[in-house]
Amino acid sequence: MTSVSSVSKGQRPETDVMATPIANVEMAAAWDGEEGEGWAREWERYDRSIRRYHDRLFAAAAIAPSEYVLDIGCGTGESTRAAGRAAPRGAALGVDLSTAMIESARELAGAEGLLNVSFERTDAQVHPFNAGAYDVVISRFGAMFFLDRRAAFRNMWRASRAGGRLVMLGWQELRRNEWLQGMRAALSAGRDLPSPALGSPGPFGLADRDGVERDLVSAGFERVEISGVEELVCEGADAEDAYRFLCSTGMVRGLLQDLDGSRRAAALSS
Ligand SMILES: C[S@@+](CC[C@H](N)C(=O)[O-])C[C@H]1O[C@@H](n2cnc3c(N)ncnc32)[C@H](O)[C@@H]1O
Repeated sequence: MTSVSSVSKGQRPETDVMATPIANVEMAAAWDGEEGEGWAREWERYDRSIRRYHDRLFAAAAIAPSEYVLDIGCGTGESTRAAGRAAPRGAALGVDLSTAMIESARELAGAEGLLNVSFERTDAQVHPFNAGAYDVVISRFGAMFFLDRRAAFRNMWRASRAGGRLVMLGWQELRRNEWLQGMRAALSAGRDLPSPALGSPGPFGLADRDGVERDLVSAGFERVEISGVEELVCEGADAEDAYRFLCSTGMVRGLLQDLDGSRRAAALSS
């Protein structure tokens, strides 16, 4: 987990968020399609799987009742709704690249009758948020995918008020994630799978601590704190359920894509 303090200027949040260009075109293609639709369908499972991380993020963010919150890469909006509940006299805006997830986020917030929560499909790296409008910027595994991380951090800094906070969660490097290592080992089928580059857009986009700190400071943030959080990830009710679900994810599809039929079957049954 990455926990960060920020400084910025002061203004109130936007009420009209205008559609803006997408800088992260490849990520938009990835998330605003099958992957995002899968997440939108399986929102309950995703939310359940990282429940303990969610709690750690909110403990670090310590959102007060009158605060304004910006949620980066909000997905189907569980963290945005939680921010809205924590700030009944403030408001929360969730932004994400996936149309399907944003639609689902709106439905879920509407079903709960949350009036201080809103959502926009936009690219957080370049969206012209009102300067200094937010007391707290949060991101639950949504800030790992930026093509230009420093520009994205700078945009979040611009959106933060003076003395505001930025709190982000991102995966640590592979060797510290037993659940991912186990999956890769099972699906390697004798291949030497390349190690994902730390700090590149993807699951390990915040895993290079020094680089993250450097980019945050260069974006304008102060008092950067990065702390390791290790909690259980729960992918299903039982092994069979978790297996079925994981087989439908982009992550497993990606690991299997260059295997032919029989090697793929062997990998899946290992
Ligand atoms: C791993 S998912 C996490 C979703 C959600 N925060 C959660 O915890 O369930 C990453 C999310 O970040 C979003 N995302 C990636 N890059 C983004 C960007 N540049 N601007 C806005 N959202 C982005 C994706 O569309 C995706 O929904």
